[in-house]
Amino acid sequence: MSDLVEQLAGKFIVIDGPDGAGKTTQAKLLGEFLSESGLEVAHIRDPGGTEIGDEIRTILLDRRHHKMSVQCELMLYMASRAQLACEVIAPALSSGKCVLGDRYVSSTVAYQGAGGADIKAITQAAQIAVGAAMPDLTVILDIESQLGLTRAAREGQADRIESKHIEYHRKVREMFLAQAADQPERFTVIPSSGSIEEIQQQLRQTLTAWKWA
Ligand code: TMP
Repeated sequence: MSDLVEQLAGKFIVIDGPDGAGKTTQAKLLGEFLSESGLEVAHIRDPGGTEIGDEIRTILLDRRHHKMSVQCELMLYMASRAQLACEVIAPALSSGKCVLGDRYVSSTVAYQGAGGADIKAITQAAQIAVGAAMPDLTVILDIESQLGLTRAAREGQADRIESKHIEYHRKVREMFLAQAADQPERFTVIPSSGSIEEIQQQLRQTLTAWKWA
């Protein structure tokens, strides 16, 4: 078993960042690499990842729901996550699996924070929703907003959040980078500018070099 595999057993790692940064691809490649190296990995998708969460995800991303208030968004993202934490994350961590997340609380801080929700209120809601099921490390895959939206658009019709104005997405990016700057012991940033393989190498190197508690 490699050192990295030993270090990551029972750890919760989230890959997050603006739309179009390639998090889903990178989380999938990392998960495959870790599984092949002998680590038990639980993948999570937020919002969603449980039967209840997937239903909430459909409501959240439905383009017809343009009237949804930012407070309603905040509570629905947290509700989906509460179920995910209790049904999937906590049991996986206690059985020694590595939990690999595609988005988490950092997304609510960035997206709903950019939409005007109070950051302290988001943190309090997260405490109620997930308690101690918080990531050991959140990797922000960073991308310039217009480029990210163009890339995301290539993957299909934009969902309700992706369809918002470019200025909103610029603010979201700032909110991701601000979290990383404020909590360097729990966040790191990787620019999403190289090839898929280069970014994956950088991600693995970051995890290998990380000072795990
Ligand atoms: P996804 O494209 O990564 O699956 O995420 C769906 C959309 O939901 C994406 O545009 C970001 C947005 N989102 C929020 O606005 N707040 C959140 O807390 C999360 C997890 C996602």
